[in-house]
Amino acid sequence: MNFLEERILKDGQVREGDILKVDSFLNHQVDITLLEQIGEEFYEHFRDKRITRVLTVESSGIAIACPVARRFGVPAVFAKKARSMNLDGDLYTSIVHSYTYNVDNVVTLSRQYLHADDSVLIVDDFMANGKAVQGLLDICGQAGAQVAGIGIAIEKGFQNGGRLLREAGMDLYSLAIVDSMSADGTIVFRAH
Ligand code: G4P
Repeated sequence: MNFLEERILKDGQVREGDILKVDSFLNHQVDITLLEQIGEEFYEHFRDKRITRVLTVESSGIAIACPVARRFGVPAVFAKKARSMNLDGDLYTSIVHSYTYNVDNVVTLSRQYLHADDSVLIVDDFMANGKAVQGLLDICGQAGAQVAGIGIAIEKGFQNGGRLLREAGMDLYSLAIVDSMSADGTIVFRAH
């Protein structure tokens, strides 16, 4: 069991609707030492790739992207969830459906911060159906940028985002894959 799986078992809470609450250390209050470990893990996994930008989507992805970007010595860039449809032409945009919240978000990224010569590492705190990652892949496609890999802290392995990306041949590295959770607090991780 790795450091993140141990921490999930210690401090994570299973909530109704297959929600894993990790906001005491990952996405509300943030344990910086843990995030630096996550940055180091992703660096070790993807270090042989040429990474020029670490890309995520606001808000909780930003906390993961920063230590990863620092380790690679490249900028962290985050797509924004637009609150208005007044989008100007200097933006890449993609529509991301959230299964968890049942809303469509428009995510945007300024064309200034992603280019055709970029080699991108996409990171996020959670992946369930993978729609956020698909939106970021769409934006990378619009920029003509290459996607070198995807690093996810917690993948919900019983939803299909990870399977689809692996079948598409992406280098997807998830630190903890939750294969099942139950109301009594039992969490089963996929073996490494
Ligand atoms: P998907 O992108 O993989 O398709 O996932 P989904 O739409 O289901 O997830 C939507 C949001 O819910 C994401 O945050 C994701 O991080 C979060 N989420 C999904 N499952 C869980 C869970 O079990 N526990 C917790 N804590 N969060 C979960 P978001 O909309 O990007 O919000 P935020 O980053 O602004 O917080």
